[in-house]
Amino acid sequence: MEDITRQTVLQYFAPEQLASVVLKNGRIVVTLKNTPEDKEKAAVLEKALLQLDGVNKANIIFTAEKTAPTLQPDEEMWQVKEVRKIYAVASGKGGVGKSTTAVNLALALSTLGKKVALFDADIYGPSIPTMLGFENQPAVSLDGRTFEPFSALGIKSMSIGSLIDRDTPIIWRGPKACGAVEQLLTEVNWGETDIMIIDMPPGTGDIQISISQKLKLDGAIIVSTPQDIALIDAVKGVNMFRKVDVPILGIVENMSYYVCPKCGYRDEIFGHAGAAETADRLGVRFLGEIPLHYSIRSHSDTGKPIVAAEPDSLYASAYKDIARKLI
Ligand SMILES: Nc1ncnc2c1ncn2[C@@H]1O[C@H](COP(=O)(O)OP(=O)(O)OP(=O)(O)O)[C@@H](O)[C@H]1O
Ligand SMILES: [Mg+2]
Repeated sequence: MEDITRQTVLQYFAPEQLASVVLKNGRIVVTLKNTPEDKEKAAVLEKALLQLDGVNKANIIFTAEKTAPTLQPDEEMWQVKEVRKIYAVASGKGGVGKSTTAVNLALALSTLGKKVALFDADIYGPSIPTMLGFENQPAVSLDGRTFEPFSALGIKSMSIGSLIDRDTPIIWRGPKACGAVEQLLTEVNWGETDIMIIDMPPGTGDIQISISQKLKLDGAIIVSTPQDIALIDAVKGVNMFRKVDVPILGIVENMSYYVCPKCGYRDEIFGHAGAAETADRLGVRFLGEIPLHYSIRSHSDTGKPIVAAEPDSLYASAYKDIARKLI
């Protein structure tokens, strides 16, 4: 089947333009590289793909290679229509709880009456589809060019993970990955949105640099655990945004402490208050601390994060307090 699909694509585009073909549940996603968008040709190819047996949806994605992540003055900024404020949730280090914080803050902002969107920019390890329970649903395009966001628990969302096969390792180089992030951010019909939260990939690589330079970011929230090493990385994250004049809204200390559910003993596994001290040293706001707790992890894993699953818990309150400060 994939062979026939490839042959069909190659009737319209050159072999070196074809980056990948993914076929899943009757839906084909064709990704073209180094190819300027050609809507007419895409429409013809889509029609041809829909003639194939078992295909009921086809999407053509154009990605453009960009050589340097540095912004040239005349280079175009990414336009995300109808979105008022965009905040990135970032960290210098992986696994500190960016996605957990991003999804719970998005839900908390929504309970405070804001129209919220959550964009998963972690092209190499997208986790939002699992956390919001849309991982097995295909992305829908009504016009064959733009995508509809997923609606989950009162917020809108889109993830690069929705367009790629879960089991396919992503080995795209930086510029290509940036092209895919840009395309997805700008080609989703977000509708009227007060705040978009972007769940960033870990570190300070090409995608983070592109997002912080080419998107008009209104602020960055840095997540860190109290550990020294994570804090050193948090400083790197803060400095990256400062270099491109993105305001730092503050630092969230995640996995601050652990309270034993049986005896109530409070254990500071990764040390404590490191993020507050670092925030002070860097002159940025300390937004609050989130404890390490079983329910925070387990609810995220089952597609209903704690702010939605246990809205009256202390843990949900911790996220809501931070959301209030952001507003
Ligand atoms: N406060 C918390 N209490 C309990 N578990 C947590 C907490 N924060 C995060 N976790 C768990 O830690 C793991 C890593 O969290 P998460 O995926 O949010 O980190 P990340 O910084 O987004 O990681 P990556 O860098 O890979 O994107 C997940 O299993 C998550 O459920
Ligand atoms: Mg993550």
